[in-house]
Amino acid sequence: MRDEPQLYGIIGYPLEHTLSPVIHNALFKRYGIRGSYFAFPVRGEMLPVAVNCARIFMRGFNVTMPHKEAIVPLLDELSEDASNIRSVNTVVNKNGKLVGYNTDGVGARKALERVAEINNSRILVLGAGGAGKSIAYELAKFTHVTVLNRRIGKALPLQNFGIEVGELTKDNLRRELKDADILINATPVGMNGNDSLVPREFLRKELVVMDIVYSPLTTKLLKDAEKAECTTVDGLWMLVYQGAEGFRLWSGIKVDISFMRRVAIDRLRKSQ
Ligand SMILES: NC(=O)c1ccc[n+]([C@@H]2O[C@H](COP(=O)([O-])OP(=O)(O)OC[C@H]3O[C@@H](n4cnc5c(N)ncnc54)[C@H](OP(=O)(O)O)[C@@H]3O)[C@@H](O)[C@H]2O)c1
Repeated sequence: MRDEPQLYGIIGYPLEHTLSPVIHNALFKRYGIRGSYFAFPVRGEMLPVAVNCARIFMRGFNVTMPHKEAIVPLLDELSEDASNIRSVNTVVNKNGKLVGYNTDGVGARKALERVAEINNSRILVLGAGGAGKSIAYELAKFTHVTVLNRRIGKALPLQNFGIEVGELTKDNLRRELKDADILINATPVGMNGNDSLVPREFLRKELVVMDIVYSPLTTKLLKDAEKAECTTVDGLWMLVYQGAEGFRLWSGIKVDISFMRRVAIDRLRKSQ
């Protein structure tokens, strides 16, 4: 990295609850980088303008809802993964050339690898939105993945990557969970603290259960999974691993994940 101050940020809307500025600014401080990271709330119609400003002023930025797919045609180059799933969450500015990556899938895989063997496992993902798609695509490079989604049509393109897809119904969920080793909730269900897509009686202790929702940190699904003695992984692990991948793309530095998680948990506690 050069020595002059460098501008980074996150583009999305709304952004009130994003943890990215606090995490990345803490990383800049810890690793002695003269960088600053800001939240840039950008509504849909302003995205092309924001991207052109970023091209001039920013060394790198994250992209979040609702722009992960809309930004794709505005970039100059895409990583192979971002190109395959047509979704970007991290951009690197290489001397005015904006290169898009997607670190959500790798972040989820690394979070899971803390507690589970992925190769030869059977993974069931609930949700085929931006996050579910990225996670299923990444994990399918290693093992068998099934995705159940409320609207089946949205999941169908995942078949191109060898992923099985189905409609998210109670019967399909029960059947798929019988054979699954790992269950991932990649829908927002659980954010209100009370709801879960998975009836508690479907959970058995051999399952590894990951929820990518991170606020609340322990969702209803994870509470039920703990009661059923499953191994659990909360969404903050994915958040820090995907952020760490982005930081590595910008700086070349492999960061301390525990440090990132501590910073994020402190912020979550303060905001509750
Ligand atoms: N931990 C992390 O690092 C991380 C990273 C990214 C996202 N997230 C979280 O993951 C969640 C999903 O994000 P996203 O970007 O994938 O959102 P998205 O693109 O809007 O997709 C949402 C998905 O959830 C499904 N869904 C929504 N409400 C549902 C309901 N009531 N019942 C069944 N399915 C439902 C949608 O199904 P349909 O297609 O049928 O509408 C869709 O598949 C959000 O809570 C987000 O904050 C966490």
